[in-house]
Amino acid sequence: MYSYRRNSVIHYKSKYEIQRMKDAGKLAAEVLYETGLRVKAGISTLELNDFAHQYTIQKGAESAPLNYKGYPKSICTSVNNVVCHGIPRKDEILKEGDIINIDITVKYKGYHGDTSRMFFVPPISENAKRLIEVTEKAMWVGIQAVKPGNLICDIGAAIEEFVKPYGYGIVRELAGHGIGRNFHEDPIVPHYKNNEVKIKMKPGMTFTIEPMINEGTYEVVFDEQDKWTVRTKDGKLSAQFEHTILVTPDGYEVLTLL
Ligand code: MF3
Ligand code: CO
Ligand code: CO
Repeated sequence: MYSYRRNSVIHYKSKYEIQRMKDAGKLAAEVLYETGLRVKAGISTLELNDFAHQYTIQKGAESAPLNYKGYPKSICTSVNNVVCHGIPRKDEILKEGDIINIDITVKYKGYHGDTSRMFFVPPISENAKRLIEVTEKAMWVGIQAVKPGNLICDIGAAIEEFVKPYGYGIVRELAGHGIGRNFHEDPIVPHYKNNEVKIKMKPGMTFTIEPMINEGTYEVVFDEQDKWTVRTKDGKLSAQFEHTILVTPDGYEVLTLL
């Protein structure tokens, strides 16, 4: 996620860099898949963290979140009403009915791949199921708005139009982001209708699309103690999916597929 700021400096990737981004993206997808297989009742979010960390290291890569601006763990695990940046804990044990976003960012040969998705411990409520389905579709609706000549703000506009009929809240305080040698770089990619981001998409741009959709209000609260965990203001559920995307001459390529 990325917060809003200043003029943007966009790094367009060369052919060589695009290959590196593809390698990093694929590895992030693999770590996410393997970690997700471990989700079950009784496992702690710290155990998921440790698995992902070891797997990443073994592949010759690094967990980008670890020590990033003081973040203490290797992945983010956001359970139920946690919107994002949940910190894995030994005493956070998954149980039936829980939904969890696992967010993996690897740094591999100098480049980053960032991807997240929802997992759950069945059975889950119909509400939770629907929220997860709509959020995944919202991400794809955003991705389908990627094409040279389109604007970055077209992504959020498309997502908002799609989500509106469900009455869900689209988180505004956190956004997608450019990615490359840096974990977070320009441009900022809002997931709601924000006509200020009139940046034209061009081939060679790489950024994430990662909508956070809340069952209730879009408003969020940042944890005052740990300074990271973001929760829904009303305590209702939140879901998120994320891919790293490359703008190609005729559209897009998703870099974080298995
Ligand atoms: N992976 C998150 C994102 O999608 C960022 C996590 S920052 C951390 O942008 F420090 F919490 F890891
Ligand atoms: Co991201
Ligand atoms: Co992420």
